[in-house]
Amino acid sequence: MPAQLTVTEGDITTFGVDPIVNAANSSLLGGGGVDGAIHRAAGPDLLAECRMLGGCPTGEARITRGYRLKARHVIHTVGPVWHGGGHGEAELLAACYANSLALAAEHGLATLAFPAISTGVYGYPVADAATVAAETVRGFLTDRPGSVTDVTFVCFGADATEAFAHAVAAVGLATTQGSPQS
Ligand code: APR
Repeated sequence: MPAQLTVTEGDITTFGVDPIVNAANSSLLGGGGVDGAIHRAAGPDLLAECRMLGGCPTGEARITRGYRLKARHVIHTVGPVWHGGGHGEAELLAACYANSLALAAEHGLATLAFPAISTGVYGYPVADAATVAAETVRGFLTDRPGSVTDVTFVCFGADATEAFAHAVAAVGLATTQGSPQS
């Protein structure tokens, strides 16, 4: 059964898939954007657990419980800050997606929801980020069939949603335009 890939617009904190992925910073101590939304929805116990992790280098991923979130787990990954594209940003962003997928598979979690990592505060152009995301997910699903069965790109706003839908179609992955899962 091929993996299901969905592009949808919505607030990732409302999704019940397990895990949802957080676009964090290297301190893992919260922030704005989707990081702030996830911490607000999860409650203070998430920050308490994150404090124990001692941070996370760019491109790597860490897993915690989800606490008050519908998702039972959160995978925190740290995207690259965009500096024009000549500083290994694409490789680091690809590593965020690959390491998050690998960590989910390692924990037997077959369905993930990703935000558009690095495309907010970190300034990564959304069309380029969407291509990196789609190509990395396709590569993982090809190399490790069956380990992950359902990936959702949860985009905030029409522009990002359109960019991710276009990127996913361009890499030839079957996709559906999903609606926010309750
Ligand atoms: N659900 C889904 N996507 C969201 C949500 C949400 N609730 N809130 C924001 N987004 C989107 C943004 O619109 C953007 O497209 O997530 C994408 C990533 O943007 P940021 O959250 O700003 O993350 P990033 O660009 O990776 O920057 C990370 O920002 O919040 C701080 O602590 C974080 O320092 C870190 C930096």
